[in-house]
Amino acid sequence: MSIQWFPGHMHLTRKAIAERVKTIDVVIEMLDARLPGSSANPLLGELTARKPSLKVLNKQDLADPQRTTLWLAHYNAQPLTRAIGLDASHSAPARALVDACRELAPLRGGMVKPLRVLICGIPNVGKSTLINTLMGRKAARTGDEAGITRNEQRVALADDCYLFDTPGMLWPRIIVEQSGLNLAASGAVGRNAYDDEEVALALLDTLAQAYPDRLHERYRLDGPVDAVAKTPSEELLEAIGRRRGALAPGGRVNLQKAAELVIADFRAGHTGRITLETPQQFAVWLAEGRQADAERADRKAERAAAPPRASTRARTRSR
Ligand code: G4P
Repeated sequence: MSIQWFPGHMHLTRKAIAERVKTIDVVIEMLDARLPGSSANPLLGELTARKPSLKVLNKQDLADPQRTTLWLAHYNAQPLTRAIGLDASHSAPARALVDACRELAPLRGGMVKPLRVLICGIPNVGKSTLINTLMGRKAARTGDEAGITRNEQRVALADDCYLFDTPGMLWPRIIVEQSGLNLAASGAVGRNAYDDEEVALALLDTLAQAYPDRLHERYRLDGPVDAVAKTPSEELLEAIGRRRGALAPGGRVNLQKAAELVIADFRAGHTGRITLETPQQFAVWLAEGRQADAERADRKAERAAAPPRASTRARTRSR
């Protein structure tokens, strides 16, 4: 099953961002440090192309520090791009963000040419938390001003630095299947858009390969750690459900409950500091997703170009 989630108000957000970006010096894209590739919005990339970009890997307190280093190096190697890791609730690192924006647009700043920064990110990535932290005592929300759209807020970070905030935005179609699953695991998509069991099984697959020791320790799984990576995720879910008492009448494991538990543990960081993807893995998924998407588009175009087939009834009549 592929996970798709693009509520109606997202179209308005897209318009608001396209409009605002014209007057912007730096775009801050907030990413979830546990799934940087999957939480990056390709639509945003399109809308903000050619603007200096600061990737903020937020929730780094929940992410694997080694993998965060890989992702930061990956982004810092890209032109016009800087990346920093952040935990939005800490105020000192949040200031590093303002400094990074100044570096990306050295010719802006001062009262005549104030630095204008747009902050974007998918829902739940921690944008509100960060803005609240950044606001501190100095900054003030100044949303009720001309040129600021109804869905947008402006925050004065300094006398010569303004942050424009738009509502969180997902993308119209998620072409990387694994990204849909990772986004669901992180809590970025609405509950109605995915199946807990499917998401938990995919999460367990990833954890069993990359972090078997964490699974082993958290759920006190039987057998040696090495066996975890070889155990099918269905069996892991069963074992976890049994261990944690997620049982249905008759003593069978309640898989729904077990799945919810695995997902909740991951989101809260109880399974440890985990990152679900590396830059290399994500590059492979993206290439596969793009190819599958192109093939889908080709098939659609072929169907549209084909002459309409006579209906069964028409064929029967003509006999
Ligand atoms: P959004 O505006 O991008 O939609 O996200 P928001 O700031 O509302 O944050 C979504 C959730 O993520 C919140 O948790 C928030 O506390 C948490 N969060 C934000 N930044 C960080 C971070 O750097 N590290 C960690 N560990 N968590 C972060 P919540 O459970 O939805 O609400 P609550 O905890 O604030 O009650």
